Amino acid sequence: MERMKKTPPIVEIITSQDELAEALAGMLFRLIGQPGDNTFHVALSGGNTPRAIFAYLNSTYGRQLANKRLHLWWGDERCVPPSHDDSNYKWAWELWLNRLNLDQNQIHRICGENPPEQEAIRYANEIRQWVPVSNKLPEFDINILGLGEDGHTASIFPDQMQLLETDQWCEVAYHPQSGQKRITLTGRVLNNSKNVIFIATGAGKSKVVRQILDEQNPLYPASHVGSTSGNTIWFLDKAASSARQF
Ligand code: 6PG
Repeated sequence: MERMKKTPPIVEIITSQDELAEALAGMLFRLIGQPGDNTFHVALSGGNTPRAIFAYLNSTYGRQLANKRLHLWWGDERCVPPSHDDSNYKWAWELWLNRLNLDQNQIHRICGENPPEQEAIRYANEIRQWVPVSNKLPEFDINILGLGEDGHTASIFPDQMQLLETDQWCEVAYHPQSGQKRITLTGRVLNNSKNVIFIATGAGKSKVVRQILDEQNPLYPASHVGSTSGNTIWFLDKAASSARQF
C-alpha cells in the first residue's frame, strides 16, 4: 500500500470527554462564525466515543450551534434502520441533533435501511449535490473519525484496504467479525477534508495509537488517513496515549 500524502498530525492530549467536546464545539463555533453565507459540511463519526460528546454539546450549548449554514453528514453507517441501537444516526439524533431543530435538508443521514449497494451510490450523489469539490473530490470542512483497536477508521477495515484508494466516494464495507454491512466514506474522500479530527479514548486504543502515530504501521487503515493539505488532529486521552514512545 503506497502511503497516501497527508499533513503531519497534531496530537492533543485531553483530560476528559468534556474537554474533547469543548474542543470540537470550539471548531464548530469558529466554522459557523465565519463571515459569508456559504454552507459548512461536518461528517460525524460513529461508535461509542462520540456519544458523550453529543450529550455534552446538547446539555452545554443547546441550540447555540443551530445554524442554517451547518450541514451534518456521517463518515459511515451500519446497514440497519435509523431506529436500531447500532445506528450511528440514531445516537447523534437522540443525544444532540434533535435539539438543534435544523432543517431536514441539513441532516444528511446515510439510509442504513436501504439496499447497501444502492445506498452507497445514493449517498455519494447526495454528497455531490451539496458538498463543494476540490481535487475532483468532496471537501468536507471537518471529518470527525473514531479509531478501532484493529486500526480501522470510519468503516475501512484492515482486510478492506482497497477502500482507501478507490475512486468511489462511498462504498459498501463489512465488519470483519460480525459481517455487518456498512456504508463508508472512502479514504480519498476522508483525506480531502480540510480538517480530519481523530478521537480516541481509553487504554484499549493505546497500542494501536502507538503503532499508527509512532510507527506509521501501514497495515492499519488509520495510518493512511489524514488531511492531504489541511489539518489532521488526534485528540487522545491519557489512557489512549499511554503506550506512545515520546
Ligand atoms: C463505527 C465507527 C467506527 C468507530 C470505531 C471506534 O461506525 O463503528 O465509525 O469507525 O469510530 O470503531 O468506535 P468506539 O468509539 O466505539 O471505540
